[in-house]
Amino acid sequence: MRKILAFGASSSKQSINKELASYSASQIIGFESITLDLNDFEMPIYSIDKENENSIPEQAYEFKEYIKNADGIIISFAEHNGSYTTAFKNIFDWISRIEKVVWNHKPMFLLSTSLGERGAETVMQTANARISRESPLKIPVFSLPNFDQNFDKEKGIIDEKLNSRFKKSLHLFESQLYSNKGV
Ligand SMILES: Cc1cc2nc3c(=O)[nH]c(=O)nc-3n(C[C@H](O)[C@H](O)[C@H](O)COP(=O)(O)O)c2cc1C
Repeated sequence: MRKILAFGASSSKQSINKELASYSASQIIGFESITLDLNDFEMPIYSIDKENENSIPEQAYEFKEYIKNADGIIISFAEHNGSYTTAFKNIFDWISRIEKVVWNHKPMFLLSTSLGERGAETVMQTANARISRESPLKIPVFSLPNFDQNFDKEKGIIDEKLNSRFKKSLHLFESQLYSNKGV
């Protein structure tokens, strides 16, 4: 069965971004979804010296295998001080040392959410700008503001306008998944 890899770019055990990523993957019919927890990929903080002394950690290769074996990738970004969480950035840095093409040209869906009104839009802009540079596809994105008010475990995104924007991005991702049979 074809696979969607999903994760929240956060190491919080109660991550709202992990919840949003996992929910989004569950909306795609005909694919098995695999949700990763970034805590399973904790590595030393990246430095060129550590890489030269001890090489790239095994967890980075494991993470990379998940990317390679996926047919599509969903990431939901938590925002820490206007940027990536340390947990995500560390994995990003290590896997970028395995090969230059980090996300292996897979169809991707980028999300972000926070408890505030901006829905972590700042980190989303950073992530989209960076990840789009290596993607042959237009990457669908969606930021969900005020997670507590706008998301329900059973119903998903409650606000109609937000849900219709979410669905539009989800459909673009689905169309890329379905037309990317060869990946
Ligand atoms: C160190 C730290 C910095 C944060 N900085 C921001 C920020 O810049 N913008 C924002 O919207 N929320 C910020 N927050 C709040 C997070 O968005 C909130 O904790 C959210 O739940 C994180 O998503 P997660 O549950 O998926 O980890 C910050 C939280 C922490 C702990």
